[in-house]
Amino acid sequence: MSQRIGILTAGGDSPGLNAAIRGVGKAAQGVYDMQVIGFRDGFRGLVENRTIDLKGGVLSGILTIGGTILGTSRDKPHKMKIGGKTQDMTDVIVENYEANHLDALVCLGGGGTQKNALVLKERGLNVITMPKTIDNDVGLTDVTFGFDTALGIATDAIDRLHSTAHSHHRIIVVEVMGHRAGWLALGAGIAGGADVILLPEMPYSLEQVAAAITDRVKRGKNFSIVAVAEGAMCREDAAVVRNLENRIAAAEGIDDRKARKTAKTELKAFEAGAGDHTLQLARQLEEMTGLESRPTILGHLQRGGTPSAADRLLATRLGTVCAELIHDGQFGVMVAARGDSAVPVPLEDVAGNKKLVPQDHPWVESARKVGVCMGR
Ligand code: F6P
Repeated sequence: MSQRIGILTAGGDSPGLNAAIRGVGKAAQGVYDMQVIGFRDGFRGLVENRTIDLKGGVLSGILTIGGTILGTSRDKPHKMKIGGKTQDMTDVIVENYEANHLDALVCLGGGGTQKNALVLKERGLNVITMPKTIDNDVGLTDVTFGFDTALGIATDAIDRLHSTAHSHHRIIVVEVMGHRAGWLALGAGIAGGADVILLPEMPYSLEQVAAAITDRVKRGKNFSIVAVAEGAMCREDAAVVRNLENRIAAAEGIDDRKARKTAKTELKAFEAGAGDHTLQLARQLEEMTGLESRPTILGHLQRGGTPSAADRLLATRLGTVCAELIHDGQFGVMVAARGDSAVPVPLEDVAGNKKLVPQDHPWVESARKVGVCMGR
């Protein structure tokens, strides 16, 4: 009997998802004679048993399309909002996995999806994952698909901002996505020739940023581009967040739910207040340097549209290896990119393993060597 597999895409969409669905689906059907179905809208579709048959022409013509033909959601199997209440839906997922006679479930997603897949592995399902996210923050893989496309979009935006900043003698503060990781801002900042790059991993000194801009003015360069990662913070704010995170960890350590909840609420409130961080930074730099300043938030533009050639290639490589691993009966792993190869890494090692930018990463050193201010 041929094997039967289900595929879902979870978390934020990312360019290259369709290429990955096509890669695993075509290899599974064409090479290994498997049957392939998709679940709509991530783990929610698995709970609600909303399926789509991925045979025939369904996988044709999707390689170049952005988003995901399956739809996605940020739902978690063990904490899903159902009728206004948060519930553990893993029992229902196990039932639907069995009802669909699945031999394996392929989950395409970022860091959160790796954790969710581990939950299902622990419930005895044959899960296998692939790493996608524009943030590039999944551990144990060289890179995630979606990153290269977003890098191109953000770089193009920084290129375009240069001519308007230059013409008006302005500072432009451009906010780049990345959640709590700075890969996208760092990569696009370097590739786009930003003058200042601010990362979540390196809390910045506002004074030093302003001094770097003023120094440029003294050298006759009366405009500046500041690429700021959405999670970047000044030193003072980072200290507040660190303190609250320590309180949460301490409360968890002694199982003090009330203290944990209080600290979590305070953290959420603080983060919500810092929501207009980029606008505030632009305003502060205008005051401190005397240069007119404008904020630009790239937002979801960075996740939309046609995947780059590199992302299509990566997603296809990982997808086809994924089908091979299923055929070989290897489950409970993420298919990671390693050089030109794709290798299985245990979900236990990947879940919660966030890849942040190390302070001494070669990209950071290169940025500094071409005169970029890293905020300290
Ligand atoms: O993880 C991808 C990402 O685009 C992050 O860079 C960003 O913080 C987040 O998703 C935005 O999420 P949403 O699309 O749910 O607003």
